[in-house]
Amino acid sequence: MNKGIILAGGTGSRLAPLTDIFNKQLLPIYDKPMIYYPLSTLMLMGIRDILIITTEDDFSLFQKLFKDGSFLGINIKYKIQNKPAGIPQALLLSEEFIKNKSVTLILGDNIFYGHDLIPQLKKGFKVKKGACIFGYRVNDPKRFGIAKLDKNYNIKEIKEKPSNPESSYAITGLYIYDKTAVEKAKKLKPSNRGELEITDLNNMYLKDKQLKIEILGRGIAWLDTGTFESLQEASAFIKTIENRQGLKVGCPEEIAWRMGWISKNQLIKIADKYAKSSYGNYLLKVMKID
Ligand code: DAU
Repeated sequence: MNKGIILAGGTGSRLAPLTDIFNKQLLPIYDKPMIYYPLSTLMLMGIRDILIITTEDDFSLFQKLFKDGSFLGINIKYKIQNKPAGIPQALLLSEEFIKNKSVTLILGDNIFYGHDLIPQLKKGFKVKKGACIFGYRVNDPKRFGIAKLDKNYNIKEIKEKPSNPESSYAITGLYIYDKTAVEKAKKLKPSNRGELEITDLNNMYLKDKQLKIEILGRGIAWLDTGTFESLQEASAFIKTIENRQGLKVGCPEEIAWRMGWISKNQLIKIADKYAKSSYGNYLLKVMKID
C-alpha cells in the first residue's frame, strides 16, 4: 500500500501572532482546517496509510481531529518532531513507518487544486528508481525552491530561495521518493540557516540522474499559505470555487465516500455530528450529487 507523510509542525513564525498558540496547519482555509487540503490530496492519490508529523504541543489536537483515521477509511499515525530541524527530518522520523518502501511526502501548508491534477501527481508513482517532484510557475520565485530547467523541461539545478532566481519554476511541497530516501537523508548536513534542506536531498537525486520533474500547468492552482496575504487569498479562492460549484474542495469525508472507503451510513453518521454546520448539510447533499 502507498504510504504518505504530512509534515505539519514548524513554528509558523511568519504568521505570528496567529500562530503564537495555534499550529499553522490548523488555521482555517475558508471552511476547514488547512491540513484537510494536503490530506485530501493524498487520499485522492489513493494513499490510505498516513503519518502526520507535528510538534509535541500540537500532537493531541491533530489526534483529536483525525483519531486513527478509521472514520475516513484510512489509517493515520502520528509522530512528534521535537524541533523544526528541516523538511527532510520528516523522512528520518518516518524510517519505521516507511519500512524501506517508496513514500509520498506533502507539506501541511500546501494546497493543490485543478482539472486532471490527480492523474498528473500519480505519474510520480511510475518512477520506480529515484524521485519525482512537481514544478509550478510562480510570480515570486525568491520564496521557494527554484528549478533551472533545460528546453526539454529536464532539471539542471535546484536552488533554495535564490536571491537572483534563474527561473520562475518553484518546487511544490509534494515529493515522491523511492526507498533510498531515508538513507540519502541521513547523509544531509544542516544548511547555513541550521536546517536540513529538502532541496539538498532533491539535488542528491539529481546528481545520480534520478530526479524527475512534472510541471503542473497554469490550469492547476498551487497555493501556499506562508504569509497573511497568501493565507487570505487561499481562503478567497476556495470560497469562490465552492460557492460557484456547490462542491467542496478538500473535503476528506466526501473523498472517503467517493473512493468507496466508507459506506453511506458512515457518512450520514459524520454528517449528524456536524448537523448545525453547513458542512454537515453538505455531506448529506453530496450523496445525491453524481
Ligand atoms: O511550499 C514549497 C516550499 O516549501 C519549497 O519550494 C521549498 O523548497 C521548501 O524548502 C519549503 O519552503 P518553505 O520556506 O515554505 O518551508 P517552511 O519552513 O515554511 O516549511 C513548510 C511546511 O513544513 C510548514 O507547514 C511547516 C512544516 N515544517 C517545516 C520545517 C522546516 C515542519 O513541520 N517541520 C520543519 O522542520
